[in-house]
Amino acid sequence: MDSDSYLPSKRLLGKVAVITGGARGIGAATAKAFAQNGAHVVIADILDEPGSRLADIINGRYTHCDVSIEGDVERAIQLALDWKGRLDIMFNNAGVAGPDGSITNLEIGRLTSLLAVNLHGVVHGIKHAARAMIDKKTAGSIICSSSSAAIMGGLASHAYTMSKEAILGLARTTACELGEHGIRVNCVSPHGVASEMLVGAYKRFLGNPDLKTEDVSKMVSETGSLLKGRGPTVEDVAQGVLFLASDESGFITGHNLVIDGGFTAASNQMSFIYQG
Ligand SMILES: NC(=O)c1ccc[n+]([C@@H]2O[C@H](COP(=O)([O-])OP(=O)(O)OC[C@H]3O[C@@H](n4cnc5c(N)ncnc54)[C@H](O)[C@@H]3O)[C@@H](O)[C@H]2O)c1
Repeated sequence: MDSDSYLPSKRLLGKVAVITGGARGIGAATAKAFAQNGAHVVIADILDEPGSRLADIINGRYTHCDVSIEGDVERAIQLALDWKGRLDIMFNNAGVAGPDGSITNLEIGRLTSLLAVNLHGVVHGIKHAARAMIDKKTAGSIICSSSSAAIMGGLASHAYTMSKEAILGLARTTACELGEHGIRVNCVSPHGVASEMLVGAYKRFLGNPDLKTEDVSKMVSETGSLLKGRGPTVEDVAQGVLFLASDESGFITGHNLVIDGGFTAASNQMSFIYQG
């Protein structure tokens, strides 16, 4: 066997994937990584222009899909079935931030709106992906976007944190049920990726509308990672999702892959302990 045999190319050859929230950010980076590795990708999003453009670039398909509407998610999965006759990978990635502010002022209507996207969207995705995979007898992989906010308090709004924590529980219970069909359900929990969502949140928190992506990346790399000078990129998360989507993670289910440069694993406030 020569050394080229070990190159990890085309890790998803011929597999069919649906990615919600795939028009930009982490979802778009994952769509590219999946396509580069041989997958056929359906991008499901509410941002029609960038979503369609990316689908053209990666020879995929785009569908308008508001994940809070069950029928939209069902149609996105049906598109994959009509196109390629199967569904192997479902990445429930679409999500929104906010609402910010004190628990004493939390408007239940705004909580409900956030849960409709972040939590119900994932419920819709798991439900219809599982139906398709069971029906076609596909030992598929379902991946859901949780967050570092589900692990450590104080990183995001109450509503967002609740939604991401609930996703971890749902992934575990559905992994339990769907294992019988060979279907795996896992989560990724990124931290501090300077996507449009995070930059928008920092602008609001810091009251600075001029903040740029580079500014947020620099702040995260200085305070939000144990890896000196190294903050996360959308590609870092995409590589984690790629692993969970591929057969390389075939014995991993019910797992939460934290992609945070060690931020939630340990405090570096007392790193002087390790000097000398
Ligand atoms: N950026 C981070 O540091 C971070 C950390 C933890 C978790 N996450 C999660 O990762 C996921 C992707 O976020 P991102 O950082 O790439 O942000 P982003 O805002 O760049 O991407 C979110 C995508 O979801 C889409 N979307 C929003 N509402 C939708 C709806 N109702 N239906 C369909 N699509 C919808 C958006 O149009 C967008 O394409 C989210 O679930 C987010 O909560 C991000």
